[in-house]
Amino acid sequence: MSQNINISKIETSKVDTLDFNNIPLGKTFTDHMFICDYEHGHWINPRIEPLRFIPIHPAAMALHYGQAIFEGMKATINANGIPMLFRPEKNAARLNFSAHRMGMPDFPEDLFVEGLRQLVALDKNWIPPQEGSALYLRPFMYADEFFIGMRAATSYKFIIIASPSGHYFSKPIKLFAETKYIRAAQGGTGEAKAAGNYAAAIKPSEIAKAKGYDQVLWLDAHNFNFIQEAGTMNLFFKINREIITPSLDGAILSGITRMSVIELLKDKCYKVTERPITIEEIIEAYKDGTLEEAFGTGTAVGIAMIEEIRYKETTIHVSDENPVAQMVLNTLNGIRSGSLEDKHHWMNKIEMDLGVTL
Ligand code: COI
Repeated sequence: MSQNINISKIETSKVDTLDFNNIPLGKTFTDHMFICDYEHGHWINPRIEPLRFIPIHPAAMALHYGQAIFEGMKATINANGIPMLFRPEKNAARLNFSAHRMGMPDFPEDLFVEGLRQLVALDKNWIPPQEGSALYLRPFMYADEFFIGMRAATSYKFIIIASPSGHYFSKPIKLFAETKYIRAAQGGTGEAKAAGNYAAAIKPSEIAKAKGYDQVLWLDAHNFNFIQEAGTMNLFFKINREIITPSLDGAILSGITRMSVIELLKDKCYKVTERPITIEEIIEAYKDGTLEEAFGTGTAVGIAMIEEIRYKETTIHVSDENPVAQMVLNTLNGIRSGSLEDKHHWMNKIEMDLGVTL
């Protein structure tokens, strides 16, 4: 690790106020946050502090020009009470991929992982123990220089906050294939985890929700035909025993759950293909009875079973049974909780003594 992380602890933890059996999604935050400043070309003063509001200048450039990126990841706890992170080095690398695209500085990847490890160690009592629940971690970076004008900012903040989370979806979901709005085009920012991508998706998502759908299924920007991804997840389709996921075409986010699921499926000897796939092909497979399953993958959603897709006037009823998605979900949960062997060495165990009473 390149720099020491200063820790100031809160006096009294608020963890006792949390009902672990009823965790409101994204509404509860742990006692502490990690924070680091970028000034004069360097990341300085990495620290963990009690969670607090952050003062921001009204001309902070992130508010005006959108230099803001984030990551999503989860910490779980194994049967021996050891907190574990899932492939944190992949999130560190993806944050920097997003930073490059958005003209923002790299964040040191070792400090990213160490900051997460120390924050999770300090707030480990907030990790929900139930399988399928986790401590959701949200690393993010934004331009905090105050300036009116169009250029890359010169000062930034990198922060990690943590929020205990239960299930994102409690039942199979319905997707609405959008044929008016787009999420991303090649050459745009779709493959970065940029806050603006989500901003542009909010209105279409609200329209889809008002029609009774859980998320938007995004189609390509040219012909509204090739499937990209859904609201907060990558997509997988099982057609005629083969599992197909849209290839990363420059407009799709490279999901860490996506890449892990591809590896898990290959371990189990499924034929997995990354290739362009159209909505027409899904409709054909539905009509001829070869569409066997569809599911989404993402950090927040985990594995989401898809029961229905709406495209223009066509409603595709996918399947009531999701054996492959269920197997993938159980395997990921098992690896995360430590009940299954972690043969790819994905779990980063946090066995550290911070020299403070936790
Ligand atoms: C995640 O799955 O971690 C995401 O970042 C999606 C978020 C908008 C809930």
